[in-house]
Formats: sequence, C-alpha cells, structure tokens
Amino acid sequence: SRRVTVRDLASAKVRGERWPMLTAYDALTARVFDEAGIPVLLVGDSAANVVYGYDTTVPVTVDELVPLTAAVSRSTRRALVVADLPFGSYQSSPQQALESASRFMKEGRAQAVKLEGGRAVAPQVELLVSAGIPVMAHLGLTPQSVNTLGGYRVQGRGEAAAGLLKDAKEMERSGAFAVVLECVPAEVAAQVTEQLSIPTVGIGAGPSTDAQVLVWQDMAGLSPKVAKFVKTYANLHETLRDAASAYADEVVSGAFPEERHSYAS
Ligand code: KIV
Ligand code: NA
Repeated sequence: SRRVTVRDLASAKVRGERWPMLTAYDALTARVFDEAGIPVLLVGDSAANVVYGYDTTVPVTVDELVPLTAAVSRSTRRALVVADLPFGSYQSSPQQALESASRFMKEGRAQAVKLEGGRAVAPQVELLVSAGIPVMAHLGLTPQSVNTLGGYRVQGRGEAAAGLLKDAKEMERSGAFAVVLECVPAEVAAQVTEQLSIPTVGIGAGPSTDAQVLVWQDMAGLSPKVAKFVKTYANLHETLRDAASAYADEVVSGAFPEERHSYAS
C-alpha cells in the first residue's frame, strides 16, 4: 500500500470527503497514527513546545526538526509526512526557503513542507512548488508571529476576514496544495473553504473546513493546558503518571521484578 499523496487530498476535496491530520514527532507514536489510518502527519514546529520545552515556536531550528522528521518518515508507510519550516528558515528569500525545504525532503524524507504566512511568502511557495516540493500554507493565527500578533488570539474577525481570504487565494494561486486555518471564526473558515479549490485544514476554525488538525499531545490529554478548540480523546497524562507511580512503588517494595522478568543462570 503506497503513501497518500497531495493528489489524493485534491481528489478528496472534489468528492467532499473530510480527512484528519495529526502532528507526530517520534517513531512509535507516528507508527500508531499510521496504523490508525491518519492520512497526513505533520512534524510541526510545535515540537518546540511539546518536544523541546520552549515557550514559543520561535527558537526551534531546522537542525532540531530534521531528525524528528526522519524518525516519523522511517516509521510510517502510508501517511503523507509534512514538515514545518521553522521561524527564520524561509523568510529571507525563496532561495533560503528552498535550502531549508531541501533538508527536510532529503535528510528528513518528508513528502511536503508547511510554512506560515500569505502574500509575503508567495515567492517562496512558487519556487518550492516549481522545484517539486508540495507546500502547505498556514494562515490565521501563525504562532511564529506571536510577537507581532501580541499573543495567541482569534484572527480574521471583522475587517480582517477579507485579508485572510486574499491571502488564502494567493496561496492557492502560488501553487500551495492545502491551507491550514488556525483560530479563525467558523464562518470565515467556511467562506475560505468554499472559495478555494485546494483543501483547507482547520484548527480552531469550526466544522466546515475540508480537514482538521490537532497537536497529538493535546488530543490525547498529555498537554497540561489546551486551547478551547481542542477535544481530548484520551487522558494520557493520568495514564502515564499512574503507570510511573505504580512502577516506582513496586521497585521500592520489591514487587518488581518477579521471577518471570528474570533470567536463570
Ligand atoms: O506546528 C504545528 O503543530 C502546527 C499545527 C497545529 C497546524 O502548525
Ligand atoms: Na506549526
């Protein structure tokens, strides 16, 4: 069974089929999500927060993200692997974007990259696409711009909706294969989805986008604090904490290891 491709995602939009996307950053969880049939896995720069412990996505580097991408690619068979280009690795020029994206494609074995921004990065999107690299755009709340946005807040309300639609159309025109819409009013996301022929991927963007994405640790109840738009499908924090304390208790009491965990001479 071959991997999902960007053409499959284009066909899904034509057929009106919604699809799920999750983040992944390591071999074992990526394998679980691949097995669950998640068609698109994003090695997000949210690794800054959930893997590396930074408080924003701004500090994470290409050198830190490429090995995670390689791990996800090596351990999956079916999912399309998308790699996030981190802050500072694509804004200078289309050439810089191509150098960074090439590392994710060659060393990380990704099948696509994602970058934040609309009109301002259209030349980057055009060059990457002409070089054979599928590009996913990311509009609305773009966490790499937290310092200019003044915090993590809803984007595209009121007057700003027109600008968001214009950016989305410019991304489609530049050759992007999909657009992430983060933290935008549901009605605005519905309008963008209707006006674009490429799929929209919502996160905090209501029910009308063509696809949805969540950070897996948020969705699985491992993140200590989550946004309003997250639904929690498991409570891994509690499950892992209980497992760790049960293990600790049994080591201290001597209940673990038992004979069946031990080797005879
Ligand atoms: O980095 C990330 O996890 C993302 C998704 C939430 C869209 O960009
Ligand atoms: Na991201």
